[in-house]
Amino acid sequence: MSNSMWGGRFAEGPDAVMEEINASIDFDSRLYAQDIAGSKAHARMLAETGVIGAEDAENIIAGLDEILREIEAGQFVFKRSLEDIHMNVEARLAELIGPAAGRLHTARSRNDQVATDFRLYVRDWIDHVDAALADLQRALAERALDHAAVVMPGFTHLQTAQPVTFGHHLMAYVEMVGRDRGRFADARRRLNECPLGSAALAGTSFPIDRAMTARLLAFDRPTANSLDAVSDRDFVIETLSATSIAAMHLSRFAEEIVVWCSAPFGFVRLSDKFTTGSSIMPQKRNPDAAELVRAKTGRIVGALNALLIVMKGLPLAYSKDMQEDKEQAFDAFDAFVLAVAAMTGMVRDLEPDPKAMKRAAGGGYSTATDLADWLVRGLGMPFREAHHVTGRIVALAAATNRPLERLSTEELQGVDQRITEEVHSVLGVDRSVKSRTSYGGTAPNNVRRQARRWLKQLGPANG
Ligand code: ARG
Repeated sequence: MSNSMWGGRFAEGPDAVMEEINASIDFDSRLYAQDIAGSKAHARMLAETGVIGAEDAENIIAGLDEILREIEAGQFVFKRSLEDIHMNVEARLAELIGPAAGRLHTARSRNDQVATDFRLYVRDWIDHVDAALADLQRALAERALDHAAVVMPGFTHLQTAQPVTFGHHLMAYVEMVGRDRGRFADARRRLNECPLGSAALAGTSFPIDRAMTARLLAFDRPTANSLDAVSDRDFVIETLSATSIAAMHLSRFAEEIVVWCSAPFGFVRLSDKFTTGSSIMPQKRNPDAAELVRAKTGRIVGALNALLIVMKGLPLAYSKDMQEDKEQAFDAFDAFVLAVAAMTGMVRDLEPDPKAMKRAAGGGYSTATDLADWLVRGLGMPFREAHHVTGRIVALAAATNRPLERLSTEELQGVDQRITEEVHSVLGVDRSVKSRTSYGGTAPNNVRRQARRWLKQLGPANG
C-alpha cells in the first residue's frame, strides 16, 4: 500500500529496506512536543488570516492537545510506515477529527516544519543545559570558598611550577563554564528565528502572517529567506560546537580528578557514590565517573564532526541527508547533560587532602620564583640576574636533597653574599600563595572575592 500521506502518485508501497532507511520516527518522536506546539501556532495563524475556518482551527487544536496527552500517557502508537513525527501526528489527527485535519498542512511543508521543531527543541535544551551549568558553577564556587586557602602545587607541563590554592584551581573552571554558557547564549540568540511558513523552499501564495507564528512560538522574528530557512542547520552545528567546547572543559577537569585520585598524588578522595571497585583487586577505588565524563567528550565531538560532514556537500535547499542531523545530536545532548550532572556530583563529593597537597606543593622547588622575586625586591637585582642566582641556589639544595627553606642563611650567602636572613620569609608555600595578590592571582583573599562575586551573580539554586 502506498503512503497515505503522500502516496497519490505511488502505486506500490516502499520496499522494506526503503522503509527502514527512510523512517525517522524511531528518533524524531522526541520532537513531539515541539511538533505539536508548532502545529498549534500554525493552525491559529491560518485561522487568524482567514486561510482556514475558525471551527476547523479549533478542532485541529483540540485534536493536537489530545495527541499530546496520548503521547505523554504512553498511549500513542508510533508507526514506521508513517515515516516521521510530523506524519504520525497528522495521521492521528485525521483519525480524531476527520477531514479537517487535512487543512493543517496548508502553507507549510515538512521541510519548514522539521526546521522549526528542531530549533524549538535545541532552544529548550539550551535553556535546560544553562541551568545545569549554572549549578556546576555554584558547586565549584562553593567548594572554592571552603578551600580558598588550601595550598596545592600548580603545574605547567605537569611539572610542579608554583604553589596555588585549591580554591583558585576550582575557580578556573567557573570561568571556563562561564564562557561555555556565553557560547550557548550566543547560539540561542542566533537560532531564535522562525522558519515556519517558508514551506517547501519557496514560500507560499497563501496570505499567511509569519510574524504571528513567530510570536506564538516565542521566536524573535521569522527567518528572512525561505531557501535558507529550510536548508539551514547552523543552529544544531553551533550548539554542538558549544557543547563540544564545554565537554572538552569537563574532560580536562575529569582528567585532573583521575590524576588527583591516584595513590601517588592522593590529592582528593571521591566517596563510594562516585567510584567503583575492581572485581579482582580488592584495594581499588576507581574514578569511573570522571573517566566516563572524559570519554563522553569523544562522542560529542564526533556528533559535531558528523553533522559538518553531512552538510558540507548539500546544495540548497532541503535534502534527505539532513534527516541525519538528529540522532547523533540527541545522543550528544544526552551525553553532555549526564556529564554535567556527574561532574557537579563529583565536585560536591570530592574531599581534598590538604596535607598531601601541601606536601606536594613544597616539592620541586616550587617557591624558586618567590626567591628570585625577593632578590629583585630586597636587593634590587635585575630579574635575569636573580633568576640565575636562584638557579644556583636550587642546584645547591638539589645536590643535598633539601627543600629551599632548609638552606641556612650562610649557605645562601655562599651563593650571593648580599642575601639576608629575611629571605626565609618567602620560601614557604603559604607565604607564596598569600603574596600572589595581583588581580586574578591565587592569593586566598582573591579567591574568596571571586567566589563570592560569582555566587552572588549566580543566585540561589533554581532561582
Ligand atoms: N523526517 C524529515 C527530517 O527529519 C522531515 C522532513 C522531510 N521532508 C521531505 N521533503 N521528505 O528531515
